[in-house]
Formats: sequence, C-alpha cells, structure tokens
Amino acid sequence: MKQYKVLMVGSGGREHALIRKLKESPLVSSVICAPGNGGIACDAVCFPVNAMDLDGMVALAKEQAVDFVVVAPDDPLAAGMVDRLEGEGIPAFGPTAAAARLESSKVFSKNLMKQHGIPTAGYEVFSDADAAFAYIERQNQYPVVVKADGLALGKGVIIAQNREEAKAALDTIMRDKKFGASGNQVVIEEFISGPEVSVLTFCDGKTVVPMVSSMDHKRVFDGNKGPNTGGMGTISPNPHYTKELAKTCQETIFEPTVKAIAGEGCPFKGCLYFGLMLTKDGPRVIEFNARFGDPETQVVLPRLRSDLMKIMLACREGTLNALDIQWDDGAAACVVMASPGYPDAYPKGLPITGLDQNGQVEGAIVYHAGTAMKDGALVTNGGRVLGITATGGALQEALRAAYDAVERIHFEGAHYRRDIGTW
Ligand code: AMP
Ligand code: GLY
Repeated sequence: MKQYKVLMVGSGGREHALIRKLKESPLVSSVICAPGNGGIACDAVCFPVNAMDLDGMVALAKEQAVDFVVVAPDDPLAAGMVDRLEGEGIPAFGPTAAAARLESSKVFSKNLMKQHGIPTAGYEVFSDADAAFAYIERQNQYPVVVKADGLALGKGVIIAQNREEAKAALDTIMRDKKFGASGNQVVIEEFISGPEVSVLTFCDGKTVVPMVSSMDHKRVFDGNKGPNTGGMGTISPNPHYTKELAKTCQETIFEPTVKAIAGEGCPFKGCLYFGLMLTKDGPRVIEFNARFGDPETQVVLPRLRSDLMKIMLACREGTLNALDIQWDDGAAACVVMASPGYPDAYPKGLPITGLDQNGQVEGAIVYHAGTAMKDGALVTNGGRVLGITATGGALQEALRAAYDAVERIHFEGAHYRRDIGTW
C-alpha cells in the first residue's frame, strides 16, 4: 500500500482538525504543516513558510519530499497555489484559481447562479459608487446588502439599515478601498432572512457528496449581538436542515453548481462550502467558499468515519462516486475561546493554562487556532485562540462536554459564547 507524506498549508483550527483526521488514515505516513501554530506542532512538524508564499511552498514540498499537499485557506487557493503545485508535478487537494472564483469573486458567483437558475438573493453589480448609490436610492428598500466583489477577510459584507449606512458602506468599499482591489466592483443584494446552514461538500469535478451539516455562530457575543467574527462556535448537525431540505439542496443547488462551474471549463475539485439561508420561499445560496469552513470543520470532521485521505485522493482523481462515505449519527459542538478584544485589536503572548503537554484536555478535542510555543509553554497568538470540540450521542451531551472542558482552560481575558447550540 502506498503511503503519503502530507503537507498541510495553513495555521488555524480548521487545519488542526484536518491534520488530526488525516493522521487517523492508514494511508498517511506523516503530516507536516506550514506555517502551523504552537498546538499544531504537537501533531505535525511545522515549517515557517507563509501560506501565501507560492514559491516557498513548492520549495518546501520538494525539499521535504511530500506526496500530497492540502491547501486549506482561501487566499492561496485564489492566488493559484494548487495550479502551481500541480504544475510542478506535486499532487494537491483544492480547487484551481479559476474554480476558486466561486469564493474569490462574488460577481462571478452571482452571475453563474443567475445564469443557471441556482436560487440566491436578487442583485445588481456596479463598478461605480455613484451608480450603485443611485440604484439603492431608486430601490429605496432597507436593509440592503452591500458586498465587495473580492476576498476581504470575511469583512466585505455590509448590511446597511438605511440610506446613510448604504452610502458609508459604498465609501468604505469603493472609495476608501478598505479591502483594496476587492472593492473595484460591488454586488448590491436583496436582504433575505431565515436560519443559516453550512454544508461542506466533497467535489471531484463532477460528483458532489455533502458532508454532515453544521451551524456557525458568527457574532461575537451571546444572543447574536456584536460584530461578526470568523465564527465563535459551531454545532453539527444543523437542527434546521431536514432530510427533505437536504434532497432539495442536492438537486437544485449542489449538483447544478458543480455542473455550472465545470461548464466554465474549470471543474471544481476539493471542498466546496455552501452557505445557505432557509427562507420562507426555500433555500437560497448566501455564499460559496472554495475551502473547508472554520470552525465548521471542527465539528464536521470528528463525525467522519471514513478515511479522509482516501476521500481527498478520490476528489483529485475524479473517483468520488466509487466511495461510500460514512458518518457518525451523533452530534458535535465546538466552542471558540477568543482573545480579549477580538474581533478588534487584542493582545498576544498570554500564557494558557489547563492544557496537557500535547495542548489537549480530557473529555474534549482542543483544536489550536491562534497559539504559539514560547519557552516551552503555550501562549495566545491570534484572535481566535482555541476551538474546544466534543462529540456525543445527542447535541446536549456534546455541548456539556465541550463547556466542561472550556471551564478548565484559562488565559487572561479569555472570552467565549455561552450560548453555542441555541438558536
Ligand atoms: P458572507 O461573508 O457572504 O458569509 O456574509 C456574511 C453574513 O452576512 C452571512 O452569514 C449572512 O448572515 C449575512 N448576509 C449575507 N448576504 C445576505 C443577504 N442577501 N441577506 C441577508 N443577510 C445576508
Ligand atoms: N465559518 C465561515 C467560514 O469559514 O467562512
């Protein structure tokens, strides 16, 4: 049996969860990571190569003689890291830059959905701030959603409650260029409402196999208050996502999307993330991500029974339809412990206590998102620091175990939501 030495690109909780699952595979001989973090280093040797350094990553893969690279974050995917690696003869998991446009260009993804009748919120595209504002005034319907075309660290979506906020949003994105070239175009979108569901899928260019569903909690404070974050916690399955909905989404959203992107000449291979809103008129696509979600991955992968390496190889080779992918019936919950001040400015280097030598705690899995090793001890090194995950036969059981572990872990000013798993 061929065994694979795997290089994971990235440094967050999602990458830690991917590494831990890959290490369960008999097909994997070892996993290394770049750049990784303090806690990931307990599971994979880490190399200080920036996730956006395409040349550096190719050089590392060659020098370390890796057999397979998993590119986890959005930026290197959009920048063509998979294209580069494959061009050098190094097998890689993830979409090409062209296929990753489903995430990296909202104009591209919205137009593709419209063209193929894939249900999403109504919209118009503008490359001129005055024209965009004139349209918003003419519509005179609030809230209205203003989205920067390109990647913006998850901050390029502004829900404007009135005319003034809409104007300010356009100024921020298009005139001040807060998100750089990402703001050269905007999508002005109809505001829709309903519960949100995250569905990550495996894709091999033709076949799309959904993973178990999940629910993210994006706002920083309890009761969905405060600014949006990268995600403060997740549960799986998503209680709103019924079997019937799953069937509808497969037929009207997942399969048509994979067919549509293949029709553009750039079949999607990798993990395609569908951010859905369940409106009273049916499910609508809010966004695509061309990668595993964070912290969705932290609750989805612990429920995967099948061999992740085997699945990733099948995605790349186009043989996904030959696999029977199995999941645990139970539930999983992840509670994110964040630095004081996050999502705004926060201190770094705070000592973390309550974790063992391997950065773990009994009764839960601790995925490290923003930690570093300093003088042999773990310290905080990012906004989201740890994702404490537990599984159970039922959601309440998973939540109890996760919160029980959270209470045994400390760093100064740590904050976390106490209402993960309620909706
Ligand atoms: P995104 O960065 O595209 O995930 O958007 C961030 C969040 O904004 C989503 O999770 C939704 O809660 C919200 N959102 C995005 N688009 C819309 C829309 N058309 N109507 C209402 N809420 C939206
Ligand atoms: N949790 C949302 C994302 O990964 O974009």
